[in-house]
Amino acid sequence: MISKSTIDQVFETARVEEVIGDFVQLKKAGSNFKGLSPFSDERSPSFMVSPVKQIWKDFSSGKGGNAVTFLMEHEHFTYPEAIKYLAKKYNIEIEETEQTDEQKQAANERESLYLVNEFAKDYFERVLFKTDAGQAIGLSYFKERGFTNETIKAFNLGYCLDEWQAFTDEALKKGYLLDNLEKTGLTIVKPDKKFDRFKGRVIFPIHSMSGRVLGFGGRILTTDKKAAKYLNSPESEVYHKSKILYGIYHAKQAIAKEDNCYLVEGYTDVIQFHQTGIKNVVASSGTALTPEQIRLVNRLTKNITVLFDGDAAGIRASLRGIDLILEQGMNVKVCTFPEGEDPDSFAKQNTLEELQAYLNEASQDFIQFKASLLIAEAKNDPIKKAETIRDIVNSISKIPDQIKKEIYIQECSRIMDISEDVLFSTLAQINKKDIQEAAKTYKAQQKSFEVVKAEKEAKKVDLQYELERKIIEILLLYGTESEDFEDLVLKETEDGDLDLEPVIHKAKVFEKIYLDLQEDEMQFSNPNFKSLYYTIIDTLHQEPDFSTKNFVNKLDPELASDVTTILMNDERYRLHDWQRNNIIPKDKKHSIAQLVTQTILTLRCYLIDKKVAEYQNDTLQADSNTRSILEDVKDYVGLKMLLSRKLGKVVSG
Ligand code: CTP
Ligand code: MN
Repeated sequence: MISKSTIDQVFETARVEEVIGDFVQLKKAGSNFKGLSPFSDERSPSFMVSPVKQIWKDFSSGKGGNAVTFLMEHEHFTYPEAIKYLAKKYNIEIEETEQTDEQKQAANERESLYLVNEFAKDYFERVLFKTDAGQAIGLSYFKERGFTNETIKAFNLGYCLDEWQAFTDEALKKGYLLDNLEKTGLTIVKPDKKFDRFKGRVIFPIHSMSGRVLGFGGRILTTDKKAAKYLNSPESEVYHKSKILYGIYHAKQAIAKEDNCYLVEGYTDVIQFHQTGIKNVVASSGTALTPEQIRLVNRLTKNITVLFDGDAAGIRASLRGIDLILEQGMNVKVCTFPEGEDPDSFAKQNTLEELQAYLNEASQDFIQFKASLLIAEAKNDPIKKAETIRDIVNSISKIPDQIKKEIYIQECSRIMDISEDVLFSTLAQINKKDIQEAAKTYKAQQKSFEVVKAEKEAKKVDLQYELERKIIEILLLYGTESEDFEDLVLKETEDGDLDLEPVIHKAKVFEKIYLDLQEDEMQFSNPNFKSLYYTIIDTLHQEPDFSTKNFVNKLDPELASDVTTILMNDERYRLHDWQRNNIIPKDKKHSIAQLVTQTILTLRCYLIDKKVAEYQNDTLQADSNTRSILEDVKDYVGLKMLLSRKLGKVVSG
């Protein structure tokens, strides 16, 4: 863990305009800087950086924040990665908080393996470019494949001499430990001898999301049928094959920007696409996708396009793996290449425009693709057809979104010429087990909701009205204040798990409220509050020197009276007097930022309770839709738990 004082020092030292200036060309515009949005393609600059407030705002995508959030958005760094990056940039020494000896040792060991890999990468690159054998064998091979020097350097490609231990000797000479060379798999150690794993192969380093070298792939250059075409680093403390995708470091920005990720099979497919100009591409390295790999992409986009070689044989085998992608709620397209071509050869023979045109034209929705493919095969075979239907409905059942599921059922009914009823009942069968699970959760939760409901009725407070009014009040009194907001965001931990982690960002109160409510598509139920809300937000956007007096003067009489009532009734100190309504937990330190966050979270929790109550009613009335209602309730229950955790408040009951 990085110590709090290091983090503080980083925040004090880092200048947002300098940090962003490394990635975006900024021009001075008054007291601010302006530039072209790095998150979208635009001609006129809508990206603003404020050196005074130390924040940035991208009006084309709506993103904004401080130096750290910029790095997280733009470089897709995790929070610790962003802090470390800034510490390095500003020469701040990173102080780690107390670690146990075991933790220290593990961290040191991982660090040593990274260093060995880093050395090996540099060494193989040097051999490729600087030795006669490297140039004559390795470099000429890459040239033959059509890779330019620029591409070779961008991917840190290299060559390992065709000698038994040239690399190992060099590494030992430089002081790297044989133990670590063995752990990374770079050196194979036998009782009587040791030798280089990648002897005589061209080298493809495999980078982590943040650009560290985790391992290597090595391709043989001879056509020796006995030897494997590709050799890869073995699993180690730093290389977990199932958790990484080849090319993710080079592709992450393009994936986010294009909002799509192409998935190919091999190293050379990625590199050739990249060179042709399509950079949002990663490779599974010839094996079935794992959930962890999909999650890497899911952080960047919800859309994935799987590219298949022309040889058709692999396609059927890969279909099932794609269900995993659907399960994570992603939209999947597939694209096949002409007979005998793979993405590498196709990209090599075509221009960027031709390749783009092909990808756009040949990409099809996965479910439609699968249905057409399988139904053609099963045409005159009723038994096979029944299997096929179950297979496709099984894929559909993996899609978390109810509406999408229904649309696919309709679509497949058309493609396969089967009635929707049959497909829906097949879906119901498949879902039966899931429903039983959902019902259990639902029943368990029901009790606690009843308690919450009863409590609310007893209090006879219209909570939603109160909360909406509170938001208007906060906007009027504190709208233009800049505050540090703490958000809990899902983050990837060092070993690839997800956890909630606090992120501080500075924002104006009205911006924070606006963005949060917008994110939830939250609507005010009281028409006066609704109209006031939009008027206030608009005014605050346009007038930095907002004054309630001028504002009230411009309102129409009915709204003006609402505003003055709010302002008259509730003086500042009473804003904090929330315990009265039991809305806010008691033991929190009072600050505007907390008030804002808690108000919004409380409103969100309230709206979820309301939704669940609505569903409860629906369940009583309509039996046929129970399945989908239960699933929705399950989702809401999960969300409520998360929000409650954020609020630090435990659901009663
Ligand atoms: N692969 C591997 N080990 C093998 C064969 C393949 O790890 N023995 C992985 C590599 O990542 C390779 C990918 O699977 O890039 C696809 O394999 P293949 O289609 O055989 O190779 P290509 O990428 O087409 O390789 P090339 O064009 O260099 O022949
Ligand atoms: Mn190939």
